[in-house]
Amino acid sequence: MVNNLFEDHFHQLRSNINTEIFKKNFNDEGVCLIKNFIPSIFLEPLINQLLELKSSAYFNKLEGNAYLEDVDDSLPFDHAKNIIDTTSLSVLAYDQIPKGNILKVIYHNQEVTKFIESVVGKKSLYLYGCPFGAINVAYMDKDDSLRWHFDQSDFVVSVPLQDSEYGGDFEYVANIRSCENQNYSEVASILNGKRNGIKSLSASCGDLILFQGKNTLHRVTTIYGKRPRIVALFGYSYDKGYQSSSYLKKIRYGRTKPYQQQ
Ligand SMILES: [Fe+2]
Repeated sequence: MVNNLFEDHFHQLRSNINTEIFKKNFNDEGVCLIKNFIPSIFLEPLINQLLELKSSAYFNKLEGNAYLEDVDDSLPFDHAKNIIDTTSLSVLAYDQIPKGNILKVIYHNQEVTKFIESVVGKKSLYLYGCPFGAINVAYMDKDDSLRWHFDQSDFVVSVPLQDSEYGGDFEYVANIRSCENQNYSEVASILNGKRNGIKSLSASCGDLILFQGKNTLHRVTTIYGKRPRIVALFGYSYDKGYQSSSYLKKIRYGRTKPYQQQ
């Protein structure tokens, strides 16, 4: 039932999408989005279910740099790699999301995967083999934030589901670095509070966002107010059977052994 309703909805959306424009936006701007990807009739029950599951999400607060790697003592203290900030959020893993949940229906829909592949894919795209990260849900409560950073993965697929009352803005500086030029001084100036070139992503709840964060510095600003910000993330890889590293599993999900698969 949910499957058929979503399939019909996506088929309708897909017929109005020009993939070439999406590809261009994704490559030039580092981001593209499909409005109303999860229709409103699914949103309210989904959010209610995710709020019920929220107490089992794993909370972690960590300090680190924008490169998600150790600081480098051989570099000056004000080098971009040595500027530290905090990330705090709670995460629900794939194995904690019930079978039949609309997020699982969407993730296992082959037309959705094919569409994403057509926008980002230089080669075939696979669903994660990871029982944690295949789909994960990030909750951000009052005072939580996601510090400025670069992603280690090629791209991220996410759907904002609920906004916080205040704050929680997704900010980014598109392609601030490249493979050839790390641009450490510009990166450091953003980390130190300069606002040059910062854009704020304007997305509504239910939109599908394709974002490449490998060379685009990005963050989520501090959350204010009682309502948690909730975002679903879908994991895709160019490699079959991709697993998150043990380190990532520990810091993001608080464990390395999955619960019984749902
Ligand atoms: Fe990121």
